[in-house]
Amino acid sequence: MNLGDRAARVLRLLDPERAHRLAIAAAARGTIPTLPEAGDPRLAVNVMGLSFPNPVGLAAGFDKNAEVPDAMLAMGFGFVEVGTVTPLPQEGNPRPRLFRLAADGAIINRLGFNNEGHDAVAERLEERVDRNGIVAVNIGPNRNSEDRYYDYVAGVRLFAPLAAYLTINISSPNTPGLRDLQAGHHLVELLVRAAEARAAAAKETGRRTPLLIKIAPDLSSRELDDLIGVATLSGIDGLIVTNTTTARPHLRSRRHTQEKGGLSGRPLFDQSTAFLARARQLAGPDLTLIGVGGVDSVQAAWSKLAAGADLVQLYTGLVYEGPTLPARIAAGLARRLEERQINHIRDVRGIETARWAAAWGQVA
Ligand SMILES: Cc1cc2nc3c(=O)[nH]c(=O)nc-3n(C[C@H](O)[C@H](O)[C@H](O)COP(=O)(O)O)c2cc1C
Repeated sequence: MNLGDRAARVLRLLDPERAHRLAIAAAARGTIPTLPEAGDPRLAVNVMGLSFPNPVGLAAGFDKNAEVPDAMLAMGFGFVEVGTVTPLPQEGNPRPRLFRLAADGAIINRLGFNNEGHDAVAERLEERVDRNGIVAVNIGPNRNSEDRYYDYVAGVRLFAPLAAYLTINISSPNTPGLRDLQAGHHLVELLVRAAEARAAAAKETGRRTPLLIKIAPDLSSRELDDLIGVATLSGIDGLIVTNTTTARPHLRSRRHTQEKGGLSGRPLFDQSTAFLARARQLAGPDLTLIGVGGVDSVQAAWSKLAAGADLVQLYTGLVYEGPTLPARIAAGLARRLEERQINHIRDVRGIETARWAAAWGQVA
């Protein structure tokens, strides 16, 4: 077992929030051993005007404050999404608020957007803006904001010049009322204003920063259909499918299963993958889809792509599998292309959309 993966095993003996702080500190010092990036041209994905060296990204929430995006890229991730970042710094919910369900390869969190706020994150991103590597920013509103739409608009204006793409997070279960933005007139208002802010930023920078929305796996098929319609009309470039779930599928763990918050990791895999396939069916071929939820192996990443994703992301898998996971997945995907005599990873997209979408009713 690699030194970094052994260290990850030791970290799992600690309180989860302390372990996370230590992992960030180790990454910042460059002490997490890294594997060279696979750099295989068959894995390169070109979508939204961006060139991703491989399709395996770090999901939002790990590097909320943009402290270690370059260390995470060096670990083999093809892209890194920092945040969620809110305009003002905030503490998040009272502790304990992060729980490991080790027997399930899962986590329940109700952190509630603890982060250092726009200015601190923008400063760090400005420092690295000339470096290579795809670093995206995930934005959200402050919990006590009087105008949540404005918080997103401020995020778009500030980060459009600094981010490879922007994610509008309307799917965290831990900020009361946030998920209501996924439907009806709230959604229309939000997306219209976000698109206007993006256009205003583009006038200044000369670059149209791609805008994605991150959605919950707990929406109904009807809600998903409506959301895709509004997103397409507003010029949204893609969807991140999915955030954590408030559902509690059958879990093996004895402790923590009834804690409030969002469940991530292996038990989320089937639900989020079937939902992704349904989204691909409804959206057609043009919208970029990033598949996330329970990716902890080559097989899981392959299934997300086969279900219809252009790219995948992971977070919980890193906690249980250790820092060699992204490079192992990238190398494994390349090996699979070879074995199956498929020329390029883009040819895997959607080969099993119908099968996964048919599972939607059963797992949802
Ligand atoms: C501890 C923790 C914190 C998270 N924080 C955020 C966040 O701030 N913003 C966000 O969009 N998603 C956040 N997520 C959700 C992940 O980005 C991802 O969508 C979800 O965990 C499913 O992927 P996974 O099973 O690979 O972890 C968080 C997840 C975890 C486990």
